[in-house]
Amino acid sequence: MDPVNALIDQDKRLGTVTRVSAASIELTVPLALAASGQRGLARGATGDFVFIDCDKECILGRITEVAIPDRQRPGLERQMESEVIAEPQGRAQLLATVSKTTHKVTRGINVKPRVGDGVFLADGSALATAIQEALQGEMEPGQTERLLVNLGRLSGITDSFIAMPPEKLFGRHCGVFGATGGGKSWTLSKLLNEIVRLKGKCILFDPTGEFQGKVSGATEFSFSQATEKQPLAHFPYKKLSEVDLYALLTPSAQAQGPNLRSAIKSLRLVSALRKEPYRYRMEKVAGDHQQFYITENAFVEVRRSGVIRKAGKSRNAVSLALIALTSEMDSHHCDFDVRLLSDQIREECVKQYTNDEMGNYGQHDDFLLGNCNSLNVRIENYLSSPEMRCLFSDDGVDICAVLDEFITDPNQHALVLSFEHVSYKYNTRELLLNSLGRYLLGLARKNTFQNQPLVCFLDEAHQFIGRSIGDDANQVSLDAFGLIAKEGRKYGLTTAIATQRPRDVPSDVLSQLGTLFVHRLTNDRDRETIERACGDLDRDAAAFIPSLAQGEAIVVGPELPAPLPILIDSPEKGQQPSSHGPRYQAFWG
Ligand SMILES: Nc1ncnc2c1ncn2[C@@H]1O[C@H](COP(=O)(O)OP(=O)(O)O)[C@@H](O)[C@H]1O
Ligand SMILES: [Mg+2]
Repeated sequence: MDPVNALIDQDKRLGTVTRVSAASIELTVPLALAASGQRGLARGATGDFVFIDCDKECILGRITEVAIPDRQRPGLERQMESEVIAEPQGRAQLLATVSKTTHKVTRGINVKPRVGDGVFLADGSALATAIQEALQGEMEPGQTERLLVNLGRLSGITDSFIAMPPEKLFGRHCGVFGATGGGKSWTLSKLLNEIVRLKGKCILFDPTGEFQGKVSGATEFSFSQATEKQPLAHFPYKKLSEVDLYALLTPSAQAQGPNLRSAIKSLRLVSALRKEPYRYRMEKVAGDHQQFYITENAFVEVRRSGVIRKAGKSRNAVSLALIALTSEMDSHHCDFDVRLLSDQIREECVKQYTNDEMGNYGQHDDFLLGNCNSLNVRIENYLSSPEMRCLFSDDGVDICAVLDEFITDPNQHALVLSFEHVSYKYNTRELLLNSLGRYLLGLARKNTFQNQPLVCFLDEAHQFIGRSIGDDANQVSLDAFGLIAKEGRKYGLTTAIATQRPRDVPSDVLSQLGTLFVHRLTNDRDRETIERACGDLDRDAAAFIPSLAQGEAIVVGPELPAPLPILIDSPEKGQQPSSHGPRYQAFWG
C-alpha cells in the first residue's frame, strides 16, 4: 500500500463534516442505516474510529453518536418496505492529529477541520501502526531494540495490537479502575507477567490470595499463615515506626502517653548502654543485675531481664545518661525489645520525687500503675494475639531481608506477598501494608531503585490507602503509599493501584497518576472522580465507560495520543487470577 495514502482509504468514506465545534464535529453518515436484510453492510457506528481528511494532515476522531434527524423519523416506518429515505447524522469527538506523510500522531488538534471535509473509517492496521508509533516515541541512543509492554488490541479492530514502552507506562504511577468483575485483577496479572517477561522488577501486594502461582517465576510469601506455595513471612516490628506503635496502642493522653514514651526511652537507653559496655563502669550485683556508673557514684540499674529499675534509684544518673547517649538513641523505629515494654512501663510508675534523697526517684506509685493497667493489658494482648503474629513474632522469614535480597538479585523479577490470611482485626492489614510501603520508601530515598526501577502493584487499594488509624490523640494516617505516589517517581519507585472505588483514593494520590486503565464503571460518582482526575477523559470519552465489556478498558494518560479503548489481552491460562464469588450452584440445592 502506498504509505502516503495508507491512512485514508477512499473506499471507506463514511460521510462529510457538517458542523465543527471546538472538540467535536458533526457529520453525515449516509451508510449508517441498517437496510432490511443488509445490516452487515451498514457503515458508521458509535465507537468507530474515523480519520477526517484535512489535506496534509488528518484528524483522528471517534464517533460518539449516530442519529436520524427528527423530521425524517415518521417516514422511517412507513417506508420500511420500499426504499428508505433517511439521512443519518453523527457526532465525532476529535482526538489527535495524524500527519499523512509520516503517520506521526500528535496529541491535540493542530489543524482545523472544515465543513465539507471528508470523513473516513479508520483502517485498523494503519490506525494501530500510527498509534503504536506515537506511543513508542524516540529510541534511547545506542539501543536497537526497545522493550515493550504488550497491552492488547484496540477494541473492535482486529490486528491492532497496542504496546507501550515501560517508561511511558510505569514512569508515572498507574491507576486501574473498574467495578467488581470489570477485569482489574486480570489486567494487573497481565502487566505483572509482562514485567517478568521484560526482566523488570515488580512486587504485588495481593489482598485476597487470588494471585497465588499466577505470576510466572515469582518468589512468593504469605503473612500470618503459610499456604501451599507461599512460605510464611513476618514484618519485623523493629522496623515499625514509633508513630505506628502509638496508633496501635492508643495510650491515653494523661498518664499512659508520657509513661509509654519514657518506657520506650528507657529501653533504648538499655540497648545503648549495652552496646558500648566500656563507656561506663559496669558492676554486676546480686541477681545478675547490672549497674552502669554514669558518674562516680550514681548509676543506672538494669535488671537481668533488660528493664531499667527506677523506684528508689538515681534520677540524676538516668537523666545524664539520656543526655550523653542522645545520638545513639535517635530513632523513629521500634528498635527495642517490645516484649519488655509492659514491664518497663510498670517500672516507670514511680513517684518523681522523694524526701529521702535528693535526685532519686520515689517509690512505686499505685495510682499511676492503675492508670497504666489498661495500656499494659493492650500491649500483652497484642503481643500474644494470633492476629498480630505477622508483626510481633519471629515466625517465618523476615520480609525486609527478603525485600533486600529480591532487589539485589538480578535473577528475581517478581515478588508476590499475600495478605489473604492477615486479619482485619486491630487494623493489622493496613498497618502491615503501610509499614511495607514505608520500608520501600526508605530504600527508595537511599537511591536503591535508581538502577533497577521497581513497580509496586496493589490490588483492592481502597482497603488500604487513605485510611487513618488510632484515636483522636494518636492519629496516624496510613500515608506510605501517598508518599510513594508523591516522591517515589524520582527515585525509580512507582506504583500501580487497582480499586473499584476511585473516590476513596486520596486526591493527592489520584493527582499523581499517569496512565489510567478505566474498566467498566457504573457508579457515577466514581466516574466523575476519574473525569476530574484525568483531563483527557472528557464527557464524550467517559460516556463509553459504563458499557465496556469485561477486560476492555479505556486507557488514558499524558503519554497516549488520545483515550484508547483497549481490549486487554487476557493473561495466559495459568496466570489468570481466580476470584470467584459465592458458588451457589455448587453448594446450594
Ligand atoms: N482481558 C480479559 N479478557 C477476557 N476476559 C476477561 C479479561 N479480564 C477479565 N475478564 C473476565 O472478567 C472476570 C473478572 O475479572 P477480574 O479481573 O477478576 O475482575 P475484578 O478484579 O475487576 O473484580 C474474569 O474472571 C474473566 O472471566
Ligand atoms: Mg479483583
